[in-house]
This record gives sequence, C-alpha cells and structure tokens, in this order.
Amino acid sequence: MNCETAERQIKNIIATNKKSDVLQKVVDFLCDNFTHYSWVGIYMVEGNDLILGHWKGPNATEHTKIPIGKGVCGSAAASGKTEIVADVNSDSRYLSCFISTKSEIVVPIKKNNIVIGEIDIDSDKPSAFDKKDKLFLEKIADTISILIS
Ligand code: SME
Repeated sequence: MNCETAERQIKNIIATNKKSDVLQKVVDFLCDNFTHYSWVGIYMVEGNDLILGHWKGPNATEHTKIPIGKGVCGSAAASGKTEIVADVNSDSRYLSCFISTKSEIVVPIKKNNIVIGEIDIDSDKPSAFDKKDKLFLEKIADTISILIS
C-alpha cells in the first residue's frame, strides 16, 4: 500500500472508531497492510521506562519494559530521533525479540517536543526501512500524539 492511501485510511480509522479502540486498530492496520512490517508495537513512556502497549505480530515479545537509553527503542526515546537499523545483528544496542527479525525502525511519539512514546516496527527483511517509511511513520506518530492526552 502506498503511504498517501495509508495516511487517508488511518485518518478514517481515527474518525470512525471509539478512542479506546483506535491505537490497536492503527497497529493492526500497519501490520496488515505493509508486507515489510512484520511486527508493530507502541511503547509508552512511564517514568524512566518504555512500556509496551498495543502490538500486532506473530509472537509476543519478552521486552515489554525497556529502560530509556537501552536497546534501539531506548536510544530513540533518549534522543527523540527516529532510529533505522538496517541489520539488527550488527547493532550492539539491539535487544533481540524474534529470531526472524533482520531490521528495525523506531519512531518517537512526541508532545511539545517531549518523547511520550514510540512506534517500534521489526521486519523479517534486511534493510527494510527507508526515508519513505520514516516520513510516513513520523506523520502517524504525530497523529497518535494528538490522540493521546
Ligand atoms: N529490538 C528492540 C526491542 C523491542 S522488540 O523489537 C519488539 C530494541 O532493541 O530496543
């Protein structure tokens, strides 16, 4: 699916669903419609940790609580910058969740320039994520930020 269509459909999901259902539906939509998104999750900042909230993928992760600063997720939360890891096995920060994962993107969700959460996506394909994914997911992160009070 192209990103413009996906953005439109996600806006539609937000407009037509109960607020309590929206985040899970957005996660499901991303996982179901982008073949290179193998596992999609949203972590929220709680104190000094990231806590896994809504997710979709073939398996649950053991990393449901990640200290800010640890792993690729914790690095993105600490810097406030999107992380793209083309080869997870050559990144020493990487916390392994699934043996099948080859690459990863982590996109901070910010409110007033403060990181309040992030979108984490694993791919079974190497080098799966590019600038298009980054720009698209940063827009989705902004949309999610507006939803979350
Ligand atoms: N790989 C992440 C941990 C989360 S799992 O990918 C779901 C990391 O290095 O922070």
